[in-house]
Amino acid sequence: MKVLRTTAALLALAATTALHAQNTARTEVPRIESRGGRHAFIVDGAPFLMLAAQANNSSNYPAMLDQVWPTLDRINANTLEMPIAWQQVEPVEGRFDFSFLQVLLDQARTHDKRVVLLWFGTWKNTSYAYTPDWVKLNPGRFPRMRTRDGKDHGVLSAHGEQTLAADTRAFVKVMEYVRDHDPQNTVIMVQPENETGSYRNPRDYGATGNRLFAQTIPPALARATGKAGTWSQAFGAQADRAFNTWYVASYVNAIAAAGKKVKALPMYVNAALAGPSNVPDPDGVASGGPQQDVLDIWKAAAPAIDFQAPDIYDRKSENIVQYLNKYARPDNPLMVPEIGNGREFARFFYSTIGRGGIGFAPFGMDDTGYYNYPLGSDRLDKDTLDAFALPYKAVGSIMRDWARIAATRPTWGAAKPDDGSSVSTDMGGWKITGSWGEWQFGNKEWTWLKSEPAPWAAQPIGGLAVAQMSSNEFLLVGDHVRVRFESATPGATVLRIEEGGFTDGKWVTTRVWNGDQTDYGINLIDRPQVLKITTGRAR
Ligand code: DGJ
Repeated sequence: MKVLRTTAALLALAATTALHAQNTARTEVPRIESRGGRHAFIVDGAPFLMLAAQANNSSNYPAMLDQVWPTLDRINANTLEMPIAWQQVEPVEGRFDFSFLQVLLDQARTHDKRVVLLWFGTWKNTSYAYTPDWVKLNPGRFPRMRTRDGKDHGVLSAHGEQTLAADTRAFVKVMEYVRDHDPQNTVIMVQPENETGSYRNPRDYGATGNRLFAQTIPPALARATGKAGTWSQAFGAQADRAFNTWYVASYVNAIAAAGKKVKALPMYVNAALAGPSNVPDPDGVASGGPQQDVLDIWKAAAPAIDFQAPDIYDRKSENIVQYLNKYARPDNPLMVPEIGNGREFARFFYSTIGRGGIGFAPFGMDDTGYYNYPLGSDRLDKDTLDAFALPYKAVGSIMRDWARIAATRPTWGAAKPDDGSSVSTDMGGWKITGSWGEWQFGNKEWTWLKSEPAPWAAQPIGGLAVAQMSSNEFLLVGDHVRVRFESATPGATVLRIEEGGFTDGKWVTTRVWNGDQTDYGINLIDRPQVLKITTGRAR
């Protein structure tokens, strides 16, 4: 009995402590600030980095949440991306049910997590599966795309005015609920719709689609692209896709704009990426979605959307780097709202934050027993969870500081390429190199000191991220990497390598690394460590 009481008391204390982290006080509504090509996601008045995870698609029910929070805690995530489905909030037209949303808010606060709401409405992986029955069963009122030969394509049409009105109404109700029940901004961001577009049918070939397609392109698109004339004249072989992209983006923009009028949370859209070689084949991609080659159309059509974002399930490192480069733009903060939860995807967290990214989320991170292998992992075993937990812990310990520094200072990050070759950059007059698969002591080329290869040498793990804090100070995080700083400038030297962290925004040293810890480069393996490197120049 005594033991029970003690446990209960401890649990209550833990809950209270967590609650204090997100108390009920009204805080500033989160926003994105972009300056000089760099971006900050401001939460509670200061830059924030989403160390996020997305739950499985059908985990959006109160009964499942117990199987969600432990996985987020296990990987040191601070943010949960969770679906909220139109079918769930408006099962009967005009009657709304926000009971799941309230449970989600309550539990997120208890577990000290922030939430990104994913609105599964007109499009979820292009399909209307998450719309209410009364939408699914009324194609007259909620028209579907027609194929070239007049068949129902099974995707709702972006020209359906009543569909847009009904989806907007439901989404606005969600945002009203958030406005009225979340003054502390547990919900920090919203994703209206999920992976929009349509596969194997570049546009709606129904009567309305054909009529609009014959018109000249909208003035805003003409201004943004420098093109003119009809869709065919302006976009040639890409006309159908450009057309559908414009109308899907405009549709999502209308929903987002209406939602933002209620509560101006940042809103983004996610892209079902086709392999780089599928782009721009109009039949090979989800036509209409925000793929990497149509971002300018989305930007022109959807000013209410803060950014477009890639869903990454491609395991090839060179493709992942291409995607990250395409979405990290001065006018588009990089966020990876979905990446496979396989172990080899975790290292691209460093590549993401090194590009100034504001968030990263492996997909399917819960214990509900579903695995989307071969997209992600076929299990969440220790190695897989550790691969995400380690960088989240290291960066989590300086999350606010990293975000603050990255908002204004140069950053760089890289993951071990598939071929294991080393990576490097030039930063502040220093060449910074990351190499992989080495023991902490000694050099690979030493023949006199025999050893087995490091156990992680052949594994797809390893990454690093660097921020240049000032002209001669660098912040370094990473795992399974050897890092070297070299300069061609006469007299330039690495003066000090300090392990530590930040207190109230000021660097605090735990210890200085020297001797074995620095003689063979800086070797970060499987400990969450944050280092500050100070350089100098002898004259
Ligand atoms: C991308 C979608 O956005 C997710 O909801 C999910 O369906 C994954 N694909 C596959 O598991």
